[in-house]
Amino acid sequence: MQVNTQQENMTAFANQQTYDLFAPEALLNPYPLYKQMREEDPVHYSELGYWVLTRYKDVEAALRDERLSADRTALFLNQLGDLDVNLIQNFIRVNSKSMIEKNPLDHTRLRKLANQGFTTRAIESWRSIIQNTTDRLLDNVQNHGSMDIVSDLSVILPGLIIAEIFGVPEAQRANLIEWAIDMGTFWGAPGSSNIEEYARKADLAAAQFSELISQLIEERRKQPGTDMISLLTIAYEEQGFNLEDLPSQCINILNAAHLTTADLIPNGVNALLRHPEQLQKLQENPALINSAVEEIIRFDTPAPFVFRIAKQDLTIGSKDIPAGSVIALGLGAANHDPEKFDSPDAFNITRLPNEHLGFGPGIHFCLGVVLARMELTVCFTTLLRRLPNLRFDPDKQAIPRHTSLVFKGYDSLPVKF
Ligand code: HEM
Repeated sequence: MQVNTQQENMTAFANQQTYDLFAPEALLNPYPLYKQMREEDPVHYSELGYWVLTRYKDVEAALRDERLSADRTALFLNQLGDLDVNLIQNFIRVNSKSMIEKNPLDHTRLRKLANQGFTTRAIESWRSIIQNTTDRLLDNVQNHGSMDIVSDLSVILPGLIIAEIFGVPEAQRANLIEWAIDMGTFWGAPGSSNIEEYARKADLAAAQFSELISQLIEERRKQPGTDMISLLTIAYEEQGFNLEDLPSQCINILNAAHLTTADLIPNGVNALLRHPEQLQKLQENPALINSAVEEIIRFDTPAPFVFRIAKQDLTIGSKDIPAGSVIALGLGAANHDPEKFDSPDAFNITRLPNEHLGFGPGIHFCLGVVLARMELTVCFTTLLRRLPNLRFDPDKQAIPRHTSLVFKGYDSLPVKF
């Protein structure tokens, strides 16, 4: 897909109001900036070289609009400046085959195949995996009286869970988490001064990841089990699809499962600790956990933007958007739009209805939504039951991630209990 260069677009849209999405204060707390953009210029052409949508109705419509392409490989490569693409051949190969980058009908076919890994029987087996993994991690810190929500829990938990669901041998699970982090870091890195180092790590991760998954597919082909690799291998073989494409789909699911959930846990702990009356309400009535989880996803979503490319000229709001333009769909901004949500900046665990866009509606609607909700429900319930006196650690600083527009989370969130 042809992507317009920043230079071409900038010439056409000089003298625009600028909004600095990468300003340190905006990366830490972007909601005031989103509000300003939504009120002043909700379909904004940014100096970053792409259009930014901040209204709920525009973002939701764009996610469902087949005139927008999800194939962002060219966009990603465009953003890498002088980086030698030979350094990232494995990374490109894995990403460009994954369903998140595809449009109908390729996407329809891949999504249907991927659904075969999410059978009712499989889903029923997940709850005990999630509970046991959460308990094991909390056992490690229970007697310390303090922990880092990120390094002791959130950065490990979703990776260990999805690795077990995929039937990845225990000895390899730590590698898998490292690979997901290396690939995700590079994905969020365009513009960074360390880009070459991130690129090398991500490419090596993609190569090693593919090798392991290919090996597991080969094993499960001969001796299938009930894990997700077996279910997907059976589906690919039964329907006559090329097994060579399966490692990319598996890596896509593994990475998507790890990166978002790992950020959502500290975002949720932070929201609860900053709103003690809501925390107390949840502690007094644990049955509110399902609506609390939806509110956490709405309030501080871990994937604040997803990108699309215009396949043809189109008009959004009063703006004409040329074919080839890059469009950033502000899920985080949409989730705080007062046209859709009463008191959108209030954290309210009993909010109903709560039709947030955190899982991105449309054909790419999060494939792992059932697993994500189950993980978050079990994780927060267990955390509050086992550590009832949870509070920020007054002696240590939280470190919100401050480098990425597409992944919003924490690098460190120290707490006491
Ligand atoms: C809180 C946790 C999660 C959040 C907020 C989240 C969010 C999202 C969003 C916004 C999208 C749409 C991306 C786009 O339109 O470009 C998406 C897609 C996807 N998610 Fe999730 N996700 C979460 C957890 C998971 C889990 C646990 C899994 C795996 C089991 C998963 C697998 C996927 C996959 C494979 C896609 C691509 C679907 C497609 O292209 O059809 N996600 N997710």
